[in-house]
Amino acid sequence: MRHCFRMLGTLRFGSGKQNHAPGSTITGLLVRQNHSSQAGPVTAVDLVNHWEAVFEKNGIPEARESSEYIVSHVLGAKTFQSLNQRIDCCSTPLTAIQLTRIQELSSLRLQRMPVQYVLGEWDFQDLTLKMAPPVFIPRPETEELVNLVLKEKSLKNMGSMEAAPSFHQLPDFPTGPLILEVGCGSGAISLSLLSKLPQSRVIAVDKSEAAVRLTRENAERLHLQDRIKIIHHDISSRMNWQQLIPWGPVDLVVSNPPYIFQSDMAHLAAEILSYEDPDALDGGEDGMKVIRDILSLTPWLLKIFGSVFLELDPRHPELVGNWLAKQPDLFLSLSATHTDFCGKPRFLHIQKMVSNSSSCSQGFSVAPSSQLFGVLS
Ligand SMILES: C[S@@+](CC[C@H](N)C(=O)[O-])C[C@H]1O[C@@H](n2cnc3c(N)ncnc32)[C@H](O)[C@@H]1O
Repeated sequence: MRHCFRMLGTLRFGSGKQNHAPGSTITGLLVRQNHSSQAGPVTAVDLVNHWEAVFEKNGIPEARESSEYIVSHVLGAKTFQSLNQRIDCCSTPLTAIQLTRIQELSSLRLQRMPVQYVLGEWDFQDLTLKMAPPVFIPRPETEELVNLVLKEKSLKNMGSMEAAPSFHQLPDFPTGPLILEVGCGSGAISLSLLSKLPQSRVIAVDKSEAAVRLTRENAERLHLQDRIKIIHHDISSRMNWQQLIPWGPVDLVVSNPPYIFQSDMAHLAAEILSYEDPDALDGGEDGMKVIRDILSLTPWLLKIFGSVFLELDPRHPELVGNWLAKQPDLFLSLSATHTDFCGKPRFLHIQKMVSNSSSCSQGFSVAPSSQLFGVLS
């Protein structure tokens, strides 16, 4: 399901101002429900209108959408539209428990908490994922990154999209693609790929313990835990990188790394600045710090002709292309740039080429650590 919700689009920039609004109460509405002679009971429509007005008064962005999501969630629906198909939102009375829960969640939104954290879950592709601060909230662009990976021809040739055999039936997975995700966050990319490519296996890596925990929890909730290895590791640390390929070199590396230019960080919206992990966003001076670390390491992790798919800032395709041109030892070639749904160059497809160096042409196994560290520095 695609959510057309601006806060969830491209990383939103805003005033950065925290809005500590006084908590609005539902007393008025309850009074109306209990004592008003002329008006009827409080309905979902009343509540959505009430909280929209409160949010607007307090400068909360996307007041209407926030209010609709909260009311729908408490009443057991994903969207107000789907709620309306289940009950008559204009006449069905809400219970006191529902009103209190809506008040609690709306108070969090008044403190500029992103609606995904308020609800505690969010949809990505066809999956419902648990969300918890400060783990990065997956954005809609990243669904396009997953779609690009799924279109990659070399992956299609590996294993069918039909029913998945169990982990035990296929101990060495001869046909399924092996994928490494750097910076898995909530697990959105890794788990979508596992669910769409039933014979694949994924190694999901993150330097944040909270992200590792959340990916693990989401994998278990979705019964995908048997085909994923989740590793707590800092890709920039240059230590123990061999643990990233427990099954040998991978077919594909995918990442939505931190790529915000440091100078832009202070201009991010209050929701992001106050609740999301800055390490998930800050890409250093030119937004490329982690991108460079990933690309420096991938030749030793990827099979020959393996692919790297990256999501990045629209200024990055040119910067990455220039940087790669100065790193011939990496044997990586920029294969394509893809635009996002706003028409901005957002995704890069990079491929590992055949090298004439024995280290790279033979894959990871013979690359000496000293050589790798030389590349990284
Ligand atoms: C932009 S978030 C992407 C999260 C998730 N893949 C998604 O798209 O929703 C970047 C993630 O990379 C992780 N990260 C940042 N630097 C890292 C590093 N050096 N090594 C491993 N993970 C890193 C962050 O903790 C964060 O979870």
